[in-house]
Amino acid sequence: MKIITIVGARPQFIKAAALSREIAKHKKIEEIIIHTGQHFDENMSEVFFREMEIPKPKYNLAINSLNHGAMTGRMLEGIEEILLKEKPNLVIVYGDTNSTLAGALAAKKIHIKVAHIEAGLRSFNMEMPEEINRILTDRISDLLFCPTQTAVDNLKNEGYENIACKIFRSGDVMQDAANYYALKSGEKRNIEYNNFILCTLHRAENTDDSKKLAVIIEALNEIHKTTPVVLPLHPRTKKKIIDLNIALKVKIIDPVGYLEMIDLLKRCSLVMTDSGGLQKEAYFFQKNCVTLRDQTEWVELITNEVNILTKIDKEQIINSVKIMQERKPNFSIDLYGNGKACENILNELLKIN
Ligand code: UD1
Ligand code: UDP
Repeated sequence: MKIITIVGARPQFIKAAALSREIAKHKKIEEIIIHTGQHFDENMSEVFFREMEIPKPKYNLAINSLNHGAMTGRMLEGIEEILLKEKPNLVIVYGDTNSTLAGALAAKKIHIKVAHIEAGLRSFNMEMPEEINRILTDRISDLLFCPTQTAVDNLKNEGYENIACKIFRSGDVMQDAANYYALKSGEKRNIEYNNFILCTLHRAENTDDSKKLAVIIEALNEIHKTTPVVLPLHPRTKKKIIDLNIALKVKIIDPVGYLEMIDLLKRCSLVMTDSGGLQKEAYFFQKNCVTLRDQTEWVELITNEVNILTKIDKEQIINSVKIMQERKPNFSIDLYGNGKACENILNELLKIN
């Protein structure tokens, strides 16, 4: 069986690392990786392939830094050409980026089966590019691997039981990745002290709106006066901050590899983020999280009181941090599967003929 895995953005390298390790155990499967090139800096791409021992992509389309239509369109064209040549039995796509949608659409149009890992998630906010990508990808996928029961229920509510596809609750491949790589973390350190707030910020809804971005940064600068805030700065946010000439006074570091990120997660006292993946990783490493968004796809974190959403308002952000610095929630509930998501997914993939 020949599988083509399509990746392009940072969170996809991490998810693919976990599943590729499992695929490699099966000698009858050949996996070929296409990297769309969406993320391309050494510390946004290459570091993950090297440290996480992800198989080297056979193809890199080097498509990045474009508007949504141009980026997705060029990826679609480039991926289709490779699929026509390689003739895989299955294409695997991850998450909700432009690379996800382009990969799924290219495959489906030429009748190649599509497996979507992280299917069924919804923020119910159609302004988010991620929401558009995940809804369209789910709709054309043949195998939908949901990380949570909420994701399965979302699909049922949208009528997926009447659509020709198979839905599985597999657990979350990011839990598998965290379990495996946590044993290897800690060799490289930018930050020597502990008990800082680990912050990441990059979502378009926060960074494309200069007023929102300024409010978040004012709040972070204020919080940093009492608890150090460590911010591995995404290139998107860095560009905006330079363009707007905003004074960011927290501890800024370049984006780090996954092993260092896990080390930071282990040693921080709180997570603040607008990332999807990091909200769950906070839970994996038993840290409370303040999410700088109006909605989250990971609603079980909210109901279990380990995460709160905050409006982009300086006082509310500062207050949310205070609340979460005090809260002592229960981290023992298995929300994302027991680290066997990749095994569950492979069991289903092996049934494809
Ligand atoms: C993308 C995803 C987002 C995901 C994020 C993960 C889409 C629509 N968005 O957002 O869902 O949460 O990845 O990090 O697919 N840039 C660099 N170097 C890099 C990568 C990006 O300089 O290695 C710059 C680009 O030139 C561009 C900006 O960052 O100016 C944004 O990159 P882009 O890939 O469009 O979106 P992300 O914000 O990274
Ligand atoms: N991450 C990382 N280094 C960083 C910042 C994030 O390795 O400097 C990891 C993080 O631990 C998580 C993933 O990147 O596994 C999340 O990706 P990102 O926040 O870019 O995207 P999202 O999950 O929001 O789509």
